[in-house]
Amino acid sequence: MNIVVLGPPGAGKGTHSSRISDRYDLIHITTGDIIRDEISRETEIGRKAKKYVQSGKLVPDEIVIEMMRKRLARKDCKDGFVLDGFPRTVNQAEALDEITDIDVVINLGVPKDVLIKRLSSRRICRDCGEVYNLVSMRSEKPGVCDECGGELYQREDDRPEVVEKRLEEYDKQTKPVLGYYRKKSKVKDVIIKKEEPVEKIVQMVFDALDETVD
Ligand code: AP5
Repeated sequence: MNIVVLGPPGAGKGTHSSRISDRYDLIHITTGDIIRDEISRETEIGRKAKKYVQSGKLVPDEIVIEMMRKRLARKDCKDGFVLDGFPRTVNQAEALDEITDIDVVINLGVPKDVLIKRLSSRRICRDCGEVYNLVSMRSEKPGVCDECGGELYQREDDRPEVVEKRLEEYDKQTKPVLGYYRKKSKVKDVIIKKEEPVEKIVQMVFDALDETVD
């Protein structure tokens, strides 16, 4: 199964993609993590992408599409994958259709006030990338990852002024991607009206996917 998880910043794309990947034994590919890794290694892609990420803008299509074309050509994608953060523009969705077939798109709908609260309280493990939240998903020991003991940190683009820009970019550039997949009848909506326990949302996502597998 090839799955795309769509949703605004903070909707839980990373959190739920990771759970989908475990349950269905699929490779989890996150464009945000790949780009942050390129930036920290100061590669050519990283140097080009840095100013966009820091200001909450999308990295230009030609950079991201080429990066994903290479990633999806790797052997580990042959038995299925879950894409988290790609495609984010209609151009990217069209390019993805040329690369491979997508079976289902999970759309995570979350109100804006919940997104802002989640992003300001998100913490991430510097070593293994596990995602926590000071409100909804705390680590057992404050500031320390339960999985590997690594240090938890706050992402630079989770500052309020950058979050605002990321949400604007989502409305302008990524919402049309949802329309693109709706026309192809690929979308399963998981709509959250208020904050609910994470496990409840995870189950809603699994139910939507199980319908597709059956
Ligand atoms: P990226 O890293 O993809 O950021 P994003 O889309 O803004 O999404 P986030 O990672 O912020 O949120 P998420 O939806 O994964 O939520 P999470 O699971 O962490 O991209 C960063 C930047 O890279 C972009 O701004 C852009 O510049 C660039 N980029 C990336 N892809 C690109 C592309 N394709 N094209 C161009 N540029 C690109 O959850 C958020 C918090 O909420 C966590 O603390 C979590 O614990 C908590 N939480 C999650 N689910 C629940 C729940 N159900 N209940 C309670 N709490 C929850």
